[in-house]
Amino acid sequence: MLLRAALLLSIASVVLGLERYVPTWESLDKRPAPTWYDEAKVGIFLHWGVFSVPSFSGEWFWQHWSSGNADAVDFMKRNYRPGFTYADFAKDFTAEFYNASRWAKLFNDAGAKYVVLTSKHHDGYTLWPSPTSFNWNSMDVGPKRDLVGELATAARAEGLHFGLYHSLYEWFNPLYLQDKRNLFETQTYVERKAMPELYQIVNDYEPEIIWSDGDWEATDEYWNATNFLAWLYNDSPVRNSVLVNDRWGLGTPCAHGDFYNCKDRYNPGTLQTHKWENAMTLDRDSWGYRRTMSLEDVLDTQELLTTLVETVSCNGNLLVNVGPRKDGTIEPIFEERLLEMGEWLKVNGEAIYESRPWLHQNDTTNPDVWYTAKNQAVYAIILKPTDVVDVSGLNSRSIGAVVSMKLLGSDAVINFTIDESRTQISLPKNRPTGILTVKVTPAHGIDLDDIQISHKYVNHRMAQE
Ligand SMILES: *[C@@H]1O[C@H](CO)[C@@H](O)[C@H](O)[C@H]1NC(C)=O
Ligand SMILES: *[C@@H]1O[C@H](CO)[C@@H](O)[C@H](O)[C@H]1NC(C)=O
Ligand SMILES: *[C@@H]1O[C@H](CO)[C@@H](O)[C@H](O)[C@H]1NC(C)=O
Ligand SMILES: *[C@@H]1O[C@H](CO)[C@@H](O)[C@H](O)[C@H]1NC(C)=O
Repeated sequence: MLLRAALLLSIASVVLGLERYVPTWESLDKRPAPTWYDEAKVGIFLHWGVFSVPSFSGEWFWQHWSSGNADAVDFMKRNYRPGFTYADFAKDFTAEFYNASRWAKLFNDAGAKYVVLTSKHHDGYTLWPSPTSFNWNSMDVGPKRDLVGELATAARAEGLHFGLYHSLYEWFNPLYLQDKRNLFETQTYVERKAMPELYQIVNDYEPEIIWSDGDWEATDEYWNATNFLAWLYNDSPVRNSVLVNDRWGLGTPCAHGDFYNCKDRYNPGTLQTHKWENAMTLDRDSWGYRRTMSLEDVLDTQELLTTLVETVSCNGNLLVNVGPRKDGTIEPIFEERLLEMGEWLKVNGEAIYESRPWLHQNDTTNPDVWYTAKNQAVYAIILKPTDVVDVSGLNSRSIGAVVSMKLLGSDAVINFTIDESRTQISLPKNRPTGILTVKVTPAHGIDLDDIQISHKYVNHRMAQE
């Protein structure tokens, strides 16, 4: 209990604002992450920008084309006049059907609690009127609108937390390329472009997530990352609620930040001691919209929900990406997937939102059963339900006596037998289809703080005693 007391003490001093962070990872890493994020579990990621105009081969199109990728070169040769440049696509980034309220409603119906939009991807085009991105922002060329601002307002009106993706580097920015030629011993690009933009989006839109990317060619010192983060945590308008990911320079992924992305589609399948997020995309092959996407490229609902369950059981959040079209519409197939996730969460969300890791994440013998816990219950989430489900992680040694088992979304009584080594759960014959959740109520409760201490994970504040 000493550990717990020490933890509470350090949390209390932060909450009371007694602590200021200095620009070192050692100091920044001590910050307890705001709790809303861990409780939220599900977010929506949006990759939208000038790349949504060619909508061919994804958000890396410009890089593919300019580096001589045969498909990209051929696509341009066949469809565009000689001399056409990537910048020429921008005037066709029209967003004429972009209705941020409609998006926000869809994301809310999907059961998401936050949304993260690409404020600027690696092509450098900003979705807000950036004064340091002359003629290469959504107010000067293309939609002539503040796309970031519209979504910030609409998302909040729907009760969603609003976050922004921001690419540190820009493939073809001359200032960046000059710094790169100088082996990153000069910081002209950081000083004139990357940092002014980061400070501006924080001050103007108050995002509660800064989802940093494009960091990997240089160190966090080049990016001035710890200075920015110390300001963000100490003095910014979002200092009490903001979280950042882990992409702040070579060596930072999976090592620093409020939550770790590690790599794209990270899904380790085991409990992680630091809060993490699985950023994945409904189109297996792309984050940005692709007109050549076919049905089989799209994750089906079982795959999506399986990923969600595995992720949450292991202490992760799921960030589900969709690539909107240039006109601001979202593919109906994405809409359907999101709404099916929302339908499932309406019934099973009790086992997801605000849940915490249990003793076991997946079952020790049944690969189709994953566990979460909340309050005084354990949730066994069954990916492929059968009439009788055999599990061994759940037994009288791991949970004690069990008062009841209940199928979420059904009134049927669940029959079960439990002994020292396993449980057999009999599901009703007339059960709903798809992934099901059995809520297990033990006679003597469960101490989630003790589980947290024994599993050594750190993201969740301990209950006050
Ligand atoms: C935008 O979408 C919302 C929600 O679906 C709707 O109520 C509103 O009328 C739409 N606005 C426009 C301009 O179409
Ligand atoms: C880095 O951040 C510090 C503190 O805000 C600032 O004084 C300095 O000018 C920044 N350097 C660059 C290159 O942005
Ligand atoms: C589930 O747990 C077992 C041991 O408890 C482990 O060996 C196995 O790799 C896990 N399976 C998955 C899919 O993560
Ligand atoms: C539970 O057991 C009772 C008594 O054996 C039986 O009538 C009932 O159908 C069973 N329910 C389920 C869902 O298997």
